[in-house]
Amino acid sequence: MRVFVTRAMPDEGVRILIDALGAEQLRVRQEDEPISRAELRDNVRDLSGLLCFLSDRIDAEILDAAGPSLKVVANFAVGYDNIDIEAAAARHVYVTNTPDVLTDATADLAWTLILGAARRTGEAERFLRAGRWAGWGPRQFLGMSIHGATLGLFGMGRIGRAVAARAQGFDMRVIYHDKQPLDPAMAHGLRATFVNKDTLLTQSDVLSIHCPLTAETRHAFGLKEFQQMKRTAVLVNTARGPVVNEAELCRALEEGLIFAAGIDVYEFEPTIHEALLRQERALLLPHLGSATVAARAAMARMAAENIVAALKGRQPPNCVYPHSAS
Ligand code: GLV
Repeated sequence: MRVFVTRAMPDEGVRILIDALGAEQLRVRQEDEPISRAELRDNVRDLSGLLCFLSDRIDAEILDAAGPSLKVVANFAVGYDNIDIEAAAARHVYVTNTPDVLTDATADLAWTLILGAARRTGEAERFLRAGRWAGWGPRQFLGMSIHGATLGLFGMGRIGRAVAARAQGFDMRVIYHDKQPLDPAMAHGLRATFVNKDTLLTQSDVLSIHCPLTAETRHAFGLKEFQQMKRTAVLVNTARGPVVNEAELCRALEEGLIFAAGIDVYEFEPTIHEALLRQERALLLPHLGSATVAARAAMARMAAENIVAALKGRQPPNCVYPHSAS
């Protein structure tokens, strides 16, 4: 077997792999659930290509279990913090991701959470479904206005910029923090101003996280940061859970340090801090950023094409190791 896909994925990708490599070269695990560590270890032996998901931890142990035949690990995700890039580099294994095709879907979901958390839609829907609504009320579920407010973006890559572009429709002031400011023409087009992290924290009415998970961004948001934020602010995370200290977020919500949170990713996914589950002001989704039919089909195609390129002796188009020229 030359290629293993660790869980069921859209047919578009499977078709590309079969057409290019032949069905006999492919095993697609049909389960929707994540693969166990032991099953993954057993299935990677002597592979040439591994198509994996953000739920799979690919480290030195798995790469060694695969052995020297392994040429490519293609992640079905734009984030690749689940893959030990140094271990792959040491073994000369390409690592690829699926950028661009999920940018708009993820930006749309960030906006779903921005609007939903600001306007308390989760809380209000739970109230209604519980049969507690006795009719319209002038003081019911008052939320935060988004129109004309300040949107702060932590991370201004593809998804951060797509979230910024959508903010123009709400006449928002956009500020952002990242390792580097944007190219001035791009920042001007997005009407976005580079600020330091302190300014981002103190001035944002909505603060939306769009950075990758790295050693530097792990726990970039904890109690100290929540204390700096406005008590009327909304925090949104569609990036990676560990960027936020989840226990301290619960405390911030309990103590009213911020107004609300819209969360799609969790520190110990799929486990969610039990205090967060109880928190009315948290709008919680199960990691749905790229979950549209079109985005997932495009991700499947892209991951499959990355595998095919590597197995046909070419550098895959979406390498995160070694870095693509683009
Ligand atoms: C989803 O979280 C992704 O990184 O694609």
